[in-house]
Amino acid sequence: MSIVITGATGKLGRLALPALLKKGIPAHEIVAGGRNLELLRQFAEQGVHLKVIDYDRPETLTAAFTGAERVLFISGTDIGQRVRQHQNVIDAARAAGVELIAYTSVAHCDRTTVRLADEDKPTELALKTSGIPSVLLRHAWYTENYTDQIPTALEQGTIVGSAGAGRVSAATRADLAEADIAALLGAQGGEIYEMGGDEAFTLTELAAEVSRQSGKDIAYADLPTGEYRELLNSFGIPAPMDGLLADADRGVRDGEMLVETGDLSRLLGRPTTSLAEAVRTALS
Ligand SMILES: NC(=O)c1ccc[n+]([C@@H]2O[C@H](COP(=O)([O-])OP(=O)(O)OC[C@H]3O[C@@H](n4cnc5c(N)ncnc54)[C@H](OP(=O)(O)O)[C@@H]3O)[C@@H](O)[C@H]2O)c1
Repeated sequence: MSIVITGATGKLGRLALPALLKKGIPAHEIVAGGRNLELLRQFAEQGVHLKVIDYDRPETLTAAFTGAERVLFISGTDIGQRVRQHQNVIDAARAAGVELIAYTSVAHCDRTTVRLADEDKPTELALKTSGIPSVLLRHAWYTENYTDQIPTALEQGTIVGSAGAGRVSAATRADLAEADIAALLGAQGGEIYEMGGDEAFTLTELAAEVSRQSGKDIAYADLPTGEYRELLNSFGIPAPMDGLLADADRGVRDGEMLVETGDLSRLLGRPTTSLAEAVRTALS
């Protein structure tokens, strides 16, 4: 089976490649794609094919997808450009005769009001109308979005957010990447996976877990969404990303990142990584 991973140089894509090899797919049947050839070279010794894949350059998509049976299509990061870019990916895949695409989307994409899903919605629709059998891998927020803040929290004694008492079914990138590959290999087309961690948590519970493991007193400070956006901006996160991240917390507060399907652990065949384990890894 010939398989392409787009965005293979990213944090999720880098984990998808070993998950694919672990499933027994021979390296010579795998194409690792990314915009930056220098970054792609890190995979050379694994024996996989390396291809420049740039969603803005259709010729790179055509070259990478020719002869491919399945594509793990990792959503892009160019906010505001992604609908057009993702359409380029779908058009090239259809022209190349790709048999199945698995797309990394956002939890409850069809009904969420979270603004970060605004460009995933048209992409899901474009996949549906493309005629290519497709699988939707709807991810909840990454646990790392939270654990990456631990060093700052330890310095300042607070975790700041705007999620109130909302619970988030966060999942680690490693779990999501492993499950994405299981879904990619097992799918017939038409599947929709709502993927979140088994144990949802509030940001107060996150702070308590960090306190417990670090021995330092860490509190959760909740801000109104507008104030949180301003704070993110003051930390150097420019518009519109500041507003999108504050809105992502608003989504958590409103229960839009709660995923209780069990899809992720079913795809993994084991429980998902717990918050305690993720905090332990981050602290080590
Ligand atoms: N669920 C969540 O909490 C969450 C959080 C953040 C992002 N996301 C979404 O999930 C995706 C994967 O997350 P991640 O953490 O792996 O992000 P990441 O580390 O930023 O990696 C994104 C990957 O996509 C590639 N890419 C971006 N735009 C592209 C384009 N126009 N053409 C070709 N490749 C492009 C990047 O290539 P380069 O190395 O060349 O930039 C990189 O390989 C993100 O792209 C984003 O859409 C989800």
